[in-house]
Formats: sequence, structure tokens, C-alpha cells
Amino acid sequence: MEYVTLNNGVKIPILGFGVYGIAKEDCERCVTQALDVGYRHIDAAQIYQNEAEVGNAIVHSNIPRDELFITSKIWVCNFGYEKAKASIDRSLERLKTPYIDLMLIHRPYADYKGAWKALEEAVREGKIKSIGVSNFNEKQTEDILRNGTITPVVNQIELSPYGQQRRMRKYLEPKNIAVQSWSPLGHGNKKLLSDPVLAEIGAKYDKTVAQVILRWNVENGLITFPKSCNYDRIKSNFEIFDFALSEEDMAKIYALDKDKYCFTPPRWLDTIIAKMKKA
Ligand SMILES: NC(=O)c1ccc[n+]([C@@H]2O[C@H](COP(=O)([O-])OP(=O)(O)OC[C@H]3O[C@@H](n4cnc5c(N)ncnc54)[C@H](OP(=O)(O)O)[C@@H]3O)[C@@H](O)[C@H]2O)c1
Repeated sequence: MEYVTLNNGVKIPILGFGVYGIAKEDCERCVTQALDVGYRHIDAAQIYQNEAEVGNAIVHSNIPRDELFITSKIWVCNFGYEKAKASIDRSLERLKTPYIDLMLIHRPYADYKGAWKALEEAVREGKIKSIGVSNFNEKQTEDILRNGTITPVVNQIELSPYGQQRRMRKYLEPKNIAVQSWSPLGHGNKKLLSDPVLAEIGAKYDKTVAQVILRWNVENGLITFPKSCNYDRIKSNFEIFDFALSEEDMAKIYALDKDKYCFTPPRWLDTIIAKMKKA
């Protein structure tokens, strides 16, 4: 495993396991398989509705807590200082852990500044080790930097070879805010996962397209956490520390950038936000 040292000195495993979209009934099994394979970093969130199952897998693994790195994220409905504070305690309970390694503001809507205040307080109380943001643009990040007392350790953003977030990465680098790539495999995008350039690079190293993409993240210092519910893919996504991409191959992957992203806020998210604005 390789690690990234965050701006507060904390080390995070560069490769983790994402649990977005894993059904409650599958989640404990998938996280247990990931831990068996060797993952020690789990990327969870309140809105994924499987924190309790992640917690079960952690407890049943018997892996010492300080060998694990657990991330969660405060969801939009829990924004505002008081609600965020209470939701952090509920996440701790569900995850069955005395502390969370990294907690993020999931999306920059409504009173995220109140939620940030609750996160800072939880750091002071020892409930959370590190705090960061997710899906924040430059203006929203500046807002946190201006109003908060702790610099976010990461911004977690959608990032894949087809959408390399060059502008945001350039903005975050001098601020020493690390980048986390969500949906590194394009959320299973078939075009990306069968891209001929990536396939040709993979053939050279006897690796799959997914392994090439994940290795490209690692070589860029990008922290990432593919999701899979399939044991063979959970395992193969972890087998990326026994090869290195040449400069020429890295350049070929940089050239795939179309600045293209798959996420568009679903309608239900718009509805929640509209309700919050009215309240
Ligand atoms: N902060 C945010 O707003 C945000 C948003 C989205 C995601 N995330 C985080 O990022 C994590 C990863 O993103 P994601 O789950 O959207 O997508 P992803 O990891 O890019 O892709 C997952 C999809 O790819 C398939 N897959 C996994 N490994 C594969 C392989 N080796 N070959 C072929 N297909 C493979 C999976 O199917 P199988 O399960 O069948 O293998 C699944 O359909 C999430 O779990 C979550 O932790 C954060």
C-alpha cells in the first residue's frame, strides 16, 4: 500500500474501497471481502445508508482500529450546525467506532458552513481526526478557507481519465488540499472500461483497464476507492502495486481527457434543495 500525507500530517492509504450503491444486505459481505483482500480504507457516507453494515464488517474483522481508515460524509439534510453535530454522533454509532478518520461535507448546498463548524468542533472533541469537502468548486472552497479555522485536508471530486479535473487540481495543489477521485472507473462506464488506448496499455503490463486507471490515479497522487460487489473485481482492483506506468503511457492517458463527467444532480436532490431554500 502507498499513502498520502494530508496537510495535518495524517496518512491515508491511497487506495480504498467505496461503498456507494452497495445494498444493505450485501454491504457487510463486500467490506469483509475487501478487508480480507487487504484494503484498509473504506469510503462511506450517511446517504449511502449502509454505515451500520460497514460498522459490522469493521467490528467482525478484528483488525485493530488504528490500522483502518474510515471516511464518511455528512449529507445535505443534516446541514446546519445543530443537525450536523447530531448526525456525526449517529454516524459514530452506526459505524461502531470511537472516531472517524475523515469526515466530509458531501455536497456544497444550504448551510454547509454550519456543518463545517460542527465538523471542526468534532475534531476538537476527538470524534473525527480529519475533515474535508466533496464536490466543492473554487468559490465554495474559498468560503470554507475564509470562514473556518481548519483547512480541509481533501476535496473529493469526480475524476477519471475522461474527466481529469485539471483546473481544480491546479487550484488545490498550492493549498495543500489533496484530491480524492470518486467514480474512478466512470461508475462502470463501458466505454471507459473498454477504451482501446487503456486496453493496449493494460496488455503491455498484463493488467486490466481498471487496474491501469487505478494505477494512473496512484501515480498522480490521487486518492481513490473503486466500488465492486464482485469478489474477483474487489481483488483485482487491489492488485495495482506491482507495476508502474511508463512516462509515455502516462502521457497517453493524459491525452484521453475530455473534461467529461457523468454526474448530474438527480431530481430528488433538486427537490431537497428547493425545500431547504424555502425553509
Ligand atoms: N463524494 C461523492 O459525491 C461521491 C459520488 C460518487 C461516488 N463516490 C465514492 O466513490 C466510490 C466509487 O465510485 P462509484 O461507485 O460511483 O463507481 P466506480 O468505482 O467508478 O465504478 C463502480 C462500477 O464499476 C464496476 N467495476 C468495479 N470494478 C470493476 C472492474 N475491475 N472491471 C469492470 N467493472 C468494474 C462495478 O460493478 P461491480 O460491483 O459489479 O463490480 C460498478 O458498477 C463510491 O463507492 C463512493 O465511495 C463519492
